[in-house]
Amino acid sequence: MSEDEQQRQQRWRACYAESARDAAPPPLPLLEAQVGLLPTAGTALDLACGRGGNALFLAKQGLETWAWDYADAAILALQQQATGQPRLHPEYRDVLAQPPQAAAFDVIVVAHFLHRPLFPILARALKPKGLLFYETWAGPYAGRGPQNPDFRLRPGELEKAFPDLQRLIYHEESDRAAGVWKA
Ligand SMILES: C[S@@+](CC[C@H](N)C(=O)[O-])C[C@H]1O[C@@H](n2cnc3c(N)ncnc32)[C@H](O)[C@@H]1O
Repeated sequence: MSEDEQQRQQRWRACYAESARDAAPPPLPLLEAQVGLLPTAGTALDLACGRGGNALFLAKQGLETWAWDYADAAILALQQQATGQPRLHPEYRDVLAQPPQAAAFDVIVVAHFLHRPLFPILARALKPKGLLFYETWAGPYAGRGPQNPDFRLRPGELEKAFPDLQRLIYHEESDRAAGVWKA
């Protein structure tokens, strides 16, 4: 892991350690709104899950759900919530060093995380007919999300990020972009 990445990881760990008692945030509105698209059984991944609001939602829908993040405080907090939810599997994992394997998940959710080399890996990690939900910050910083432009989508970028998948839903606003794709 590069020195920059190590510093970023330390910042995330400290951030979640401070908010260890906070409840998980709600799921992405896009995921909640499109719950009807989800399969009734199968496997799901919340990649770079943070407090795991999306993972909890997916597990409650009946999906065997993995939640990966490299901030151990976030994973610990989610593991405590997972005691009442046998389908939720929070795991400490650096998703750049250990990205998902091919054809591993029926549903993948990525929220507020951007590492462009993962785009083709995410597309390949879907099982046939699998769904990818992706939402993150876009455009120039205007008060919300990361200030570093490397972590913000360029206009139109997400729309073209998964050329081998079928785009089901896509929308872009001034500071975020979101969509759903099918394998
Ligand atoms: C802005 S937060 C988003 C969290 C969650 N997806 C949400 O929307 O609430 C970004 C998350 O990415 C995680 N992260 C960043 N780089 C990572 C990596 N290489 N491996 C695993 N997690 C990573 C951070 O620890 C942090 O929890």
